[in-house]
Amino acid sequence: MSEASGRPLYDQIGDRYATTRRPDPRVAARIHAALGDARRVVNVGAGAGSYEPTDLDVLAVEPSTVMLAQRPVGGAPAVRAVAEALPFPDRRFDAAMAVLTMHHWSDQRAGIAELRRVARRVVMLTFDTDVVPWIASDYLPAMIGQDAFVFPPITEVASWLDADIEVVPVPHDCTDGFVGAYWARPELYLDPQRRAGMSAVRQLDPALVEAAVEHLRADLESGAWDAKWGQLRDLDELDLGYRLLVTR
Ligand SMILES: C[S@@+](CC[C@H](N)C(=O)[O-])C[C@H]1O[C@@H](n2cnc3c(N)ncnc32)[C@H](O)[C@@H]1O
Repeated sequence: MSEASGRPLYDQIGDRYATTRRPDPRVAARIHAALGDARRVVNVGAGAGSYEPTDLDVLAVEPSTVMLAQRPVGGAPAVRAVAEALPFPDRRFDAAMAVLTMHHWSDQRAGIAELRRVARRVVMLTFDTDVVPWIASDYLPAMIGQDAFVFPPITEVASWLDADIEVVPVPHDCTDGFVGAYWARPELYLDPQRRAGMSAVRQLDPALVEAAVEHLRADLESGAWDAKWGQLRDLDELDLGYRLLVTR
């Protein structure tokens, strides 16, 4: 499923986002700290509003009407637009934030140039595709080759931004159900509601996903998953490749 149908991807897959993707407070604190003393903030690829600081003057940018419809009543105002063509004058904002969205942009370099044009500081949460979580390596390798997971190395993206790269470890009880979130709680991948909020899963052939889920279920029942990965259950957090890029 792609934008080839003419509809934004998240108009097709975003229907249950707000229920499965609750912002994680520890990740939110990292983003808020990185925004520094910014007052006027644009949140690009804002989705349903996760991670938008409520104490700052925020304007959201989001192309999907399905996602816009899930924004909270009384939340920050939003405009329908894409990162690659932001409808704002130069330096309109103190900071631009972009959280787990860059991998969906059709032209990442153009989007980053736009963030830099409209704000003096840029804070972007994305991931290093060289770090592959077990759910992908062992059960759903088809995820890895998807368009959204093929983009330049994180060091190159950081160089476009002139940004420092910070590791954002994923807590063992992460509340934001992105694809790596359940690294210490494998049973949660068996829940179709939780999988529905993961774009990397939603874009795969449902039969392939069902087969992977049955494979994981069998490994959990036989103890094979715990024999290989069970030590993860005792960790507080893990580096799954999520990275915060903060302009210097
Ligand atoms: C995984 S969601 C992240 C939403 C939100 N930032 C969050 O952390 O929950 C990715 C979002 O990027 C949006 N998106 C896709 N293509 C985009 C583009 N070219 N410009 C801006 N946003 C885009 C999608 O519609 C979707 O809402």
